[in-house]
Amino acid sequence: MPIPLHPRAEACGKVILLGEHSVVYGHPAVAAGLPQGVCLQAVPREHAKLPISLSIPQWQLELELRADSEHPVARACLEVLTHCDGPVTGWAITGTTCLPARAGLGSSAALTVALARLVLGEHADLDELVDASLAGERVFHGEPSGLDSRVAAQGGVLRFVRGAGAEPVPLAGPLPLLLIPSNIPRSTAIQVAKVRARLERQRSVITPTLSALGAAAEASIRALAHQDLTALGELMTIAHHLLGAIDVSSPALDALQASALAAGALGAKLTGAGGGGCLLVLPPTDPSALLTAFATYEPLLVEVHP
Ligand code: PMV
Repeated sequence: MPIPLHPRAEACGKVILLGEHSVVYGHPAVAAGLPQGVCLQAVPREHAKLPISLSIPQWQLELELRADSEHPVARACLEVLTHCDGPVTGWAITGTTCLPARAGLGSSAALTVALARLVLGEHADLDELVDASLAGERVFHGEPSGLDSRVAAQGGVLRFVRGAGAEPVPLAGPLPLLLIPSNIPRSTAIQVAKVRARLERQRSVITPTLSALGAAAEASIRALAHQDLTALGELMTIAHHLLGAIDVSSPALDALQASALAAGALGAKLTGAGGGGCLLVLPPTDPSALLTAFATYEPLLVEVHP
């Protein structure tokens, strides 16, 4: 018999409402869990000594988790399993997901948290899950802030401060969000490095810009508490331009952001590391003009609940 796994586990995706990048420097960020995260199922393989197989068709992922594998997903998954004292052989794991990979929607954190839950169970301590997930996330992202792992494990809308954990953000009502994939791949590690480089070159200008991004995140908590979507949209749009100032937007994202505003969005910004990934749009009550304007991008309309 291989070391046991639970038969099924899931974890949320995430979208950062405000505070990406500045969160790396200790400022608060606000993020929401996306219930359409990753669901994993595990069944024993025919022999306990066979490597663990991992199949997630939506990501065209078909792997065996071998110790000598150079595939980052295999390496990250083995880090998570080892961190949790879980099995490293003997199981076939299959996954389903609605999250696009590498689009800033927390796909890798959802995978690593769900994997840790297969070992530790659905009632596992959140801090333990986050630590296990981070063991895998470091393979993908270098030194992540931990925000993705926390939201993947905890769900809901959270105020997160690096090293200080997360607290739930009260919402006065449902929050509709439109996610528009730019279909441009990007690397979180490269984007984080670009910010650090600009900070080192222009410290006196970039330090207050990072503080302003943190202040926008803090102000969004007040807007959410009062369901003031006009204020929230304005803060998102301001944040997009501040993110441009720290070098993480792109001409394509700027064009998408301007089109979203022209189609009636209350606010729009890049979300996550930037450079590609998704545009986050706060839609008006009737989002049909936006859905028509971005139909070819296959936008994702989600509603976050209090
Ligand atoms: O990998 P993404 O696109 O979800 O971005 C992560 C958010 C950053 O603030 C840019 C990095 C971090 O570790 O928090």
